[in-house]
Amino acid sequence: MLIHKKSDILSSEITSKENFENRRTLIKAAGASLITASGIFTGLMSGSANAASGRQKINAFAKSKYGTEEKLTPYDDVTTYNNYYEFGTSKSDPAIESRLFKPSPWTVSIEGAVKKNKQIGIEDIFKLAPLEERIYRMRCVEGWSMVIPWIGFSLAKLIQWAEPTANAKYVEFISLNDDLMMPGQRIHVLDWPYVEGLRMDEAMNPLTIMAVGLYGEVLPNQNGAPMRLVVPWKYGFKGAKAIVRIRFTETMPKTSWMKAGPNEYGFYANVNPTVDHPRWTQSSERRIGGGLFTPRIKTQMFNGYAEQVGQLYSGMDLIKNF
Ligand code: MTE
Repeated sequence: MLIHKKSDILSSEITSKENFENRRTLIKAAGASLITASGIFTGLMSGSANAASGRQKINAFAKSKYGTEEKLTPYDDVTTYNNYYEFGTSKSDPAIESRLFKPSPWTVSIEGAVKKNKQIGIEDIFKLAPLEERIYRMRCVEGWSMVIPWIGFSLAKLIQWAEPTANAKYVEFISLNDDLMMPGQRIHVLDWPYVEGLRMDEAMNPLTIMAVGLYGEVLPNQNGAPMRLVVPWKYGFKGAKAIVRIRFTETMPKTSWMKAGPNEYGFYANVNPTVDHPRWTQSSERRIGGGLFTPRIKTQMFNGYAEQVGQLYSGMDLIKNF
């Protein structure tokens, strides 16, 4: 995602094979000491923790009616190939650098054009909506994709509870700003905190969820614990991680990526194979986890979710509104 010119890349940033191997070992070790949101889940969903791995099962969730027959991306790839600039800009950084991140206790502030303008603890958010597994295709603007079995709840439920006023046209999602726990924030690669946004009807769409887990387990830190947005018909950067503020606004939020590169990252960010990013084709994608020689696959309009969300954009010029 970085707006990098070739000459900006320092030779020290290019990972040697030896360094790469060291990192893989560290990532494995990180897996063993995942600081999960255990505190949050204890007693809430009768999750059972694995003492050796630190990973914690979520037992109480419904199976999804939104499935896909496609092969799931292996757990190891989902949790070690991440974009999370608060923990570094390379794909392997977040799994290592987020080991000490504490996703509990956690409070979310509900703000702006809304009746319940107040703070809510994550335990109370869990009481608003049942958890469900959603197996979604995820497409990154960089040209790779995954199929992830998320566990989450419908964002619409939280919005209904918050009671937005008639002035609420957009929802802004703001990630944690804490450079003690998030060392990547000491470098100004983005205008911190990370900000994303949706139009109200997009936020209310049944496909839009707040994810709190994956693969039947509590969300690992590197994937956005304790709670992150998942919008499967949009490029992955819309999915803000570690959300602490949800603000209802009358005007379109200025998102972090729009500020960093207005010609490269639009507000809508709908997956659209006919509109290329200046540096990456959007017509095809590389499925992560398939091995080096796996052929690229064709990217679908709205990432294959056109039937469910196409009507949200009828009459809109999706080349201008990229
Ligand atoms: N959220 C925050 N707070 N910080 C980030 O750097 N990266 C985004 C998005 N959410 C990002 C973020 C990008 S670019 C992508 S592709 C997805 O998270 C990646 O999610 P994953 O690592 O769980 O696959």
